[in-house]
Amino acid sequence: MKLFIGVFMNLLLPRIAFSELMELKCDEIKAISYYERYYGTKCTISDVSADSSSTFVIRSANNFEYNKIIQEVEFSNSKLYDMPREIFGTFQFLKKVQANSCGIEDVNKYNFNYASALQELRMRSNKIKKLPNSVFSSITTLTTLDLSSNEINEIEKNAFVSLESLEYLTLSSNKLVELGEDIFKDLTALISIRIDNNKLQIIEENLFANCLNLSEIRIEGNEIAVIKGDAFGKLKDLILLNVASNRLHEINIKTTNVERLWIPYNNLKSLDVNKNLKFLYAPYNELEMINFTGNTEMMELKLRQNSISDLSNISSLTGLEVLDLSYNPLGPLKVSSFARMHDLIKLNLEFTQIKKNSLTYGTFSHNTNLTQLDLSYNQLLQIDFNIFSSLAQLTHLKVDGNNLTEIPFENIKVNFPKLSLISLTDNDWNCSYLSNMIKQLRAMNVIVYVFTKYRVYDEMNVDGIRCHNNATKHVYWRSPIAHLDDNEANLSENDIRTPETDLNANLTKIWDKISELQIKMFKMNQKINNVNDGKSFVYNNHETQIPESVGKNLIVQSEVSSIKVILYLMFFIMMFFMFVTIIKFVKSYGSLQRFYYPNESFRRSTATIQTTMEHVM
Ligand SMILES: *[C@@H]1O[C@H](CO)[C@@H](O)[C@H](O)[C@H]1NC(C)=O
Ligand SMILES: *[C@@H]1O[C@H](CO)[C@@H](O)[C@H](O)[C@H]1NC(C)=O
Ligand SMILES: *[C@@H]1O[C@H](CO)[C@@H](O)[C@H](O)[C@H]1NC(C)=O
Ligand SMILES: *[C@@H]1O[C@H](CO)[C@@H](O)[C@H](O)[C@H]1NC(C)=O
Ligand SMILES: *[C@@H]1O[C@H](CO)[C@@H](O)[C@H](O)[C@H]1NC(C)=O
Ligand SMILES: *[C@@H]1O[C@H](CO)[C@@H](O)[C@H](O)[C@H]1NC(C)=O
Ligand SMILES: *[C@@H]1O[C@H](CO)[C@@H](O)[C@H](O)[C@H]1NC(C)=O
Ligand SMILES: *[C@@H]1O[C@H](CO)[C@@H](O)[C@H](O)[C@H]1NC(C)=O
Ligand SMILES: *[C@@H]1O[C@H](CO)[C@@H](O)[C@H](O)[C@H]1NC(C)=O
Repeated sequence: MKLFIGVFMNLLLPRIAFSELMELKCDEIKAISYYERYYGTKCTISDVSADSSSTFVIRSANNFEYNKIIQEVEFSNSKLYDMPREIFGTFQFLKKVQANSCGIEDVNKYNFNYASALQELRMRSNKIKKLPNSVFSSITTLTTLDLSSNEINEIEKNAFVSLESLEYLTLSSNKLVELGEDIFKDLTALISIRIDNNKLQIIEENLFANCLNLSEIRIEGNEIAVIKGDAFGKLKDLILLNVASNRLHEINIKTTNVERLWIPYNNLKSLDVNKNLKFLYAPYNELEMINFTGNTEMMELKLRQNSISDLSNISSLTGLEVLDLSYNPLGPLKVSSFARMHDLIKLNLEFTQIKKNSLTYGTFSHNTNLTQLDLSYNQLLQIDFNIFSSLAQLTHLKVDGNNLTEIPFENIKVNFPKLSLISLTDNDWNCSYLSNMIKQLRAMNVIVYVFTKYRVYDEMNVDGIRCHNNATKHVYWRSPIAHLDDNEANLSENDIRTPETDLNANLTKIWDKISELQIKMFKMNQKINNVNDGKSFVYNNHETQIPESVGKNLIVQSEVSSIKVILYLMFFIMMFFMFVTIIKFVKSYGSLQRFYYPNESFRRSTATIQTTMEHVM
């Protein structure tokens, strides 16, 4: 039985007269290293079922040391109405609280009255609808607030007041329609904000005006049609701006330093690029015109499915490494089109209306670093590999859907010594020719790649590639097939790595060390606790591989000498009785929480531990 419900009638505390006292306890305790920010000991409270009238008491609260080492509380498999304020009163060093998927409906100021050390608060996937004024105002230490996947449709003007340390704010997947211009005005330390997948329609010019440290803004998946004025202009540290899947016709980034702009699935017709932009992902727009004047940094440009027909501005981007122009009506290429892109590694020209004569000697002469070239679904009819003689680094070549009848495959390794993959489906192959070609390519260690999805099963084919056996009959190739393996439009989390997360990854080792220390400290506490109250919690530590047996048989396994154990024992039995007496005394006066504040000796011992940790770092 994990949950203890004690019914105390009005004989006890006047404050909670006639209400149920719900006893919470840690069902599992783990030492944990958080490479992000801190380390600590985590208490998991499971299977709570509370409603709006529940009053809580923390069962293990009669163990001082134990309360002090708890730095994280997570509610699991629980049903709550709001955040039990008692956890903050009891665990005074609480830095992180998670209550995800707990059905929380309400957040109010009263919940966080005692949350004086809290840094991270996560209440994902609950049912919160509204953030009232000053709701977090007592948690001035908060750095991370995650309220994603709730039902928030209203944030009052002063909801975020006093959150001067807040660095990461996540409001993803809520029901926000509008954001008042002032609501983030106090969030001066903000580094990352996510309001993606809401129903926002307008971004006010001054929404981020006070958040000068912002490096990441994610507002994708809304219905934003207008971003007023120069909304990002003052954000000199902005690195990533994701406005994908909105209804924008224009965006002003000219005066920002933003390095990565994600803006697929909008209605842009033109774009004025700022000078620092390195990565521009703008597929699925209607772009005809892009002004790159002054930009010297551009490395990746992905413009699949736009209306670009003139390459003259793009041709000046000499630092480009990845260029995707697929599904644009490019037409004939000029000799100069890619001539200054010496660093180009990937070039995608799928379905760009390139004809037989569009490629000439010189088109790729200077792209000596090119490793991947996609010329699929054009109208090449035949290929003269001599045009590609400078592409000595090429490993991937795609020429599907070009009505080719033959290619000079015999010498393919002379032209492309590093070629490892060729893709040539949907051409006009005669079967005996195709069969012979595939065998010989295989002998040269070139993979003949066929999309699994488009393999032919019900027509004449060689290895799933369609072919014919009739000198006069030509294959009708299908309408263009997107090369989905490139995932150009795929907004995967991994691609959105800010320097912050890279840096954090490196801190893991350090935090692991600190965690080891923490675990040692915890073990000591465990010994003490076992003597004091053998059944106060189950010690379980998967992450650090401390054997389960540690919990129960600790005294036997202990390195502490038996004399010390006896001394500890006597001391703690004494303490315990004193404690019980005091508790009885206090109970008759008022709330339990009032009694638990850190004593001086513990503060000193944490100071020592911190010094040790600094030494480790
Ligand atoms: C903004 O970042 C800088 C550098 O990281 C830091 O010194 C400064 O305190 C931050 N500003 C605020 C308001 O937190
Ligand atoms: C190229 O950039 C200039 C400004 O430098 C602009 O006027 C022109 O429209 C751009 N052309 C295209 C095709 O993007
Ligand atoms: C292109 O950008 C440059 C540099 O910011 C600017 O001076 C010029 O007016 C822009 N051209 C057009 C057509 O917007
Ligand atoms: C190929 O790339 C390397 C490094 O990325 C660069 O140093 C070199 O200049 C490039 N080659 C050419 C011909 O520019
Ligand atoms: C393929 O080429 C043949 C001539 O070799 C031509 O008759 C046919 O129309 C072409 N098909 C397509 C789809 O371009
Ligand atoms: C297939 O192509 C080869 C070489 O191009 C040719 O010799 C052969 O006659 C063709 N077969 C048919 C059925 O068209
Ligand atoms: C070859 O194609 C022509 C025209 O489609 C057709 O008349 C003829 O019967 C076909 N021959 C064979 C052997 O399939
Ligand atoms: C993105 O890629 C992942 C895995 O590569 C895939 O499961 C997902 O369906 C893709 N999403 C889109 C929108 O293409
Ligand atoms: C992380 O550490 C590796 C080596 O351990 C180093 O090469 C890299 O630059 C570091 N990254 C950061 C962001 O500090």
